[in-house]
Amino acid sequence: MTTNPREQTKQTLTQLGIQSPGAIAQEFAELRGQFDQDKVNFINIGVGDRNQSDALRLYWLGRKAGILSQITNNWLKTAPPELKPTVGQELNKLKAHIELALEETLNYFKERVDLQLGVAEDLSLPGIERAYGTRHLIRQTFEELQRIFTAIGFSVVQGPEIETPYYNFEALNIPEHHPARDNMDTFYIEGARNSHLLRTHTSPMQIRTMEKEKPPVRIVVPGKVYRRDNPDATHGYMFHQIEGLAVDTDITFCDFKGTVEYFAREFLGPKTKTRLRPSYFPFTEPSAEVDATCHVCGGKGCRVCKFSGWIELFGAGMVNPAVYGFVKYDPERLSGFAFGMGVDRLAMMKYGVTEVPLLFQNDLRFLQQFP
Ligand code: DAH
Repeated sequence: MTTNPREQTKQTLTQLGIQSPGAIAQEFAELRGQFDQDKVNFINIGVGDRNQSDALRLYWLGRKAGILSQITNNWLKTAPPELKPTVGQELNKLKAHIELALEETLNYFKERVDLQLGVAEDLSLPGIERAYGTRHLIRQTFEELQRIFTAIGFSVVQGPEIETPYYNFEALNIPEHHPARDNMDTFYIEGARNSHLLRTHTSPMQIRTMEKEKPPVRIVVPGKVYRRDNPDATHGYMFHQIEGLAVDTDITFCDFKGTVEYFAREFLGPKTKTRLRPSYFPFTEPSAEVDATCHVCGGKGCRVCKFSGWIELFGAGMVNPAVYGFVKYDPERLSGFAFGMGVDRLAMMKYGVTEVPLLFQNDLRFLQQFP
């Protein structure tokens, strides 16, 4: 048998002396081997050149002088009837093999060209590493505060950031011309029905909760609040609070104090001591500012506590009986305490952050310090 398929397929099977299905299959197997060899040769000389695979296609599948056309004309058409089916089947198999291989060769060249042009990904390059996000310092602090209070039976509720003056002020015992409204520079919403506003504190949720639920009530309310403050190192127009409220038939000032002490120890460390300073809020009576011994110097005095040994934590007090009147609770039977913490303040104090804007500028160099 000759090794040149073109010459070989110019002759008929009879001329080649092939007379059995087995011999035919053998013949096709050889052709297939030759094609495979051709393919490798073509690829080797034609690195990066698509024309090479076109030439290979022409040689084997070309309509006029392609090998398969020659087989059709010289082998298939002239085959004795009993051998025709075998020749047909073998021819189809060979054709399928060649077409598939040519497609693969084409893809191979295409990828090489794309690679040279820089179109395709270079799979040997190291991958892109995507950094995992972390929770923001404020979110982490909220979670810490919620953990501390849910551990002693408080549940977490949230409320609307757009409020009515009734919930934000009146029902909290802050009537229209009360001076306490002045230091809450409020964002009123223009043209809103009943003059809505952005809540200036989370305290309105005290009212909304007591309106809906019968006592006992034990809730904390995390959320955003808004004030028309000019932004500086310690102020923004938006900040975060967590409100607390506990009301029941037998809650005393001792429960209030014990809860405050528990909180300070959990949040700042077991050695922390607390003190209450008299203060004023319309919705608590008596009212207090809660201070804790400085978590940096332990009360000796340092720069962080301005050498006083104490740090101001938050405002709080026993719920003013006047508030119960707004929610139809019986002030004769019920008592409770409330508190309102500035979450940003607490976070900054605990982690030594000195500038409010740092919290909201999304600078990774800052955020990554709190993984
Ligand atoms: N709502 C007050 C504020 O934003 C904070 C506050 C103080 C809330 C005392 C309370 C409280 O519940 O008892 O300034």
